[in-house]
Amino acid sequence: MSEIVKVGLGARSYDIHVGRGLLAQAGDLLKPFARGTVPVVTDENVARIHLAALSNSGLDVKPIVLAPGEGTKSFTGLEKLSSELLRSGVDRGGLIVALGGGVIGDLTGFAAGILKRGIAFAQIPTTLLAQVDSSVGGKTAINTAEGKNLVGLFHQPRIVIADIDVLSTLPKRELLCGYAEVLKYGALGDRAFFEWLEANGAKALGGDAGAMVHAVAHSCRMKAAIVERDERETGERALLNLGHTFGHALEAATGFSDRLLHGEGVAIGMALAFRLSVRLGLCPGQDAERFVRHLKAIGLPSSITDIPGERASADALIAHMAHDKKAKDGRLRFILVRAIGEAFETDAVPVEALRTVLSS
Ligand code: NAD
Ligand code: GLY
Repeated sequence: MSEIVKVGLGARSYDIHVGRGLLAQAGDLLKPFARGTVPVVTDENVARIHLAALSNSGLDVKPIVLAPGEGTKSFTGLEKLSSELLRSGVDRGGLIVALGGGVIGDLTGFAAGILKRGIAFAQIPTTLLAQVDSSVGGKTAINTAEGKNLVGLFHQPRIVIADIDVLSTLPKRELLCGYAEVLKYGALGDRAFFEWLEANGAKALGGDAGAMVHAVAHSCRMKAAIVERDERETGERALLNLGHTFGHALEAATGFSDRLLHGEGVAIGMALAFRLSVRLGLCPGQDAERFVRHLKAIGLPSSITDIPGERASADALIAHMAHDKKAKDGRLRFILVRAIGEAFETDAVPVEALRTVLSS
């Protein structure tokens, strides 16, 4: 029960392995890229549960264990990690491994991209979000006081190993957040996949390994195809931001706190993108209703009113959107939909329609 998805980027091509029991096989999978000691960067939660399997897989592993959480993806975190990596003795011919969620993957990829002017790295994503999104496509970054992911570079991994067994230890809320990104692929470009998720999504989340392997591998296939056509996000790759302009504004308005996790923001953001598309006469109402029905059925939030605590005003949310790095030449850009499976990018959204949708 495993699949290999290829990312075709010429000399920077790589394979994504998706399956069960892959952590135990990671030594064999990584050996072609490794030389000498292999620093494995991870966080305390992941180290406690999953590091031993990798340490016992036949590699000369040097663990570097960081504090969990978004705060680690910072200049301070980068400085600490850079020192540890440089002291580990890894050289330009070596390999650095990221074992963890998107925080560890983004930070480690960035450090690997700049240390000694670029060292190869491998991604072993341990959250559903990281398996279907952040470990694929080479975006790496840290956060600054000015915003999230504003300092970073493109640095493609040499291999991605997505062992779906590690998802069994993930808190349910984090698993659902990753599912929002899975659903995004159906919503933005593959109606048949969305229909498959309507029928099988709950099964995948409930522990059916075959269904989860398919959900992860298909998501990776879709992301790989987009990245192959537009690695540097000059066009089509922006579709992967469906729900994110709204989601980031909601995350900012809730102080990037536990009130709203990233994937939950994306889920509400996608629902808002559907509602705005309907309001502008671009998308049939029944597609928006069908999409929201699935969010609810699976246990994801679908409305601003689902966020606990005081509600942010439409104008406050619009102000946050104006700061988003996706705004171009001062104009807000949105990913909207013509139907489930047909997303497109536009900057032609009347602010009144936006205000109405954000107030409803
Ligand atoms: P995360 O890395 O913070 O992980 C979430 C939590 O789950 C952490 O507490 C972590 O310790 C824990 N955890 C991880 N794996 C576990 C496991 N198997 N069992 C138990 N606990 C586990 O968060 P995330 O959602 O994976 O990633 C979010 C980050 O990804 C954000 O910084 C976001 O900006 C970034 N991101 C990057 C891209 C990209 O293209 N590079 C795309 C999407 C998101
Ligand atoms: N997560 C969006 C991208 O990789 O482009």
